[in-house]
Amino acid sequence: MRIIVTKDYEDMSKKAAAIIAAQVAEKPDCVLGLATGSTPIGTYKNLVEWYENGSLDFSQVRTVNLDEYRGLPRDNDQSYYYFMHDNLFNHVNIDEANTNVPDGTNPDADAECARYEALIASYGGQDLQLLGLGHNGHIGFNEPAQEFDKTTHCVDLQESTIEANKRFFASADDVPKQAYTMGIGTIMKAKKILVVANGEGKADIVAKAFFGPVTPEVPASILQFHPNVTIVVDEAAASKLPR
Ligand code: F6R
Repeated sequence: MRIIVTKDYEDMSKKAAAIIAAQVAEKPDCVLGLATGSTPIGTYKNLVEWYENGSLDFSQVRTVNLDEYRGLPRDNDQSYYYFMHDNLFNHVNIDEANTNVPDGTNPDADAECARYEALIASYGGQDLQLLGLGHNGHIGFNEPAQEFDKTTHCVDLQESTIEANKRFFASADDVPKQAYTMGIGTIMKAKKILVVANGEGKADIVAKAFFGPVTPEVPASILQFHPNVTIVVDEAAASKLPR
């Protein structure tokens, strides 16, 4: 586990983008596992800038996103499909056919999750998986639980996650209650993992996830067992790490 502490959000975003750019340079047809949420927005901004100035080429890159709300149509501006197009895909030369987000509009949860898991396997898994960190330690939408979920599955979102995400919706009632998400097993199969976290609000969970006991009660703690994890955090999010 490598921990890179950066001065601030901008610096975190630049360093995380540099790690992703290095992956694309090293293997132009790599499989990137991508995340949504507020944390990676700056990372995607840097990637778009580097594409625009000719330093990055996404023409052969394939992507698989971590998760999607169940029931939200793709054109809903809170869907993760919309987010990815708005923040990255619409601004770089990626082939739309090579981008993948679980289909939240497929009402058949079992079929959709099985399809998505098989798709990731057919790509040979993620070369690099980008992850944000939920305040309760969730990664993707793998919420604290009694055991680690292995493959892509349908989850009931926890009250705290609905609370955290309601800022994007008209009210908490409008936040979807379920999502399709890669499982912990799907995430752990990635060859490399890159975690980003910023701000004081993430300091407790960063310390707990990476220096506390490994338990499904803190889903991100499993990453301590992954052989190639880089954590890029700003000073505020790193403030409770052991010195
Ligand atoms: C997003 C995702 C979530 C977020 C997490 C942190 O695709 O899977 O696990 O990474 O909720 O969200 P932010 O970055 O908004 O704090």
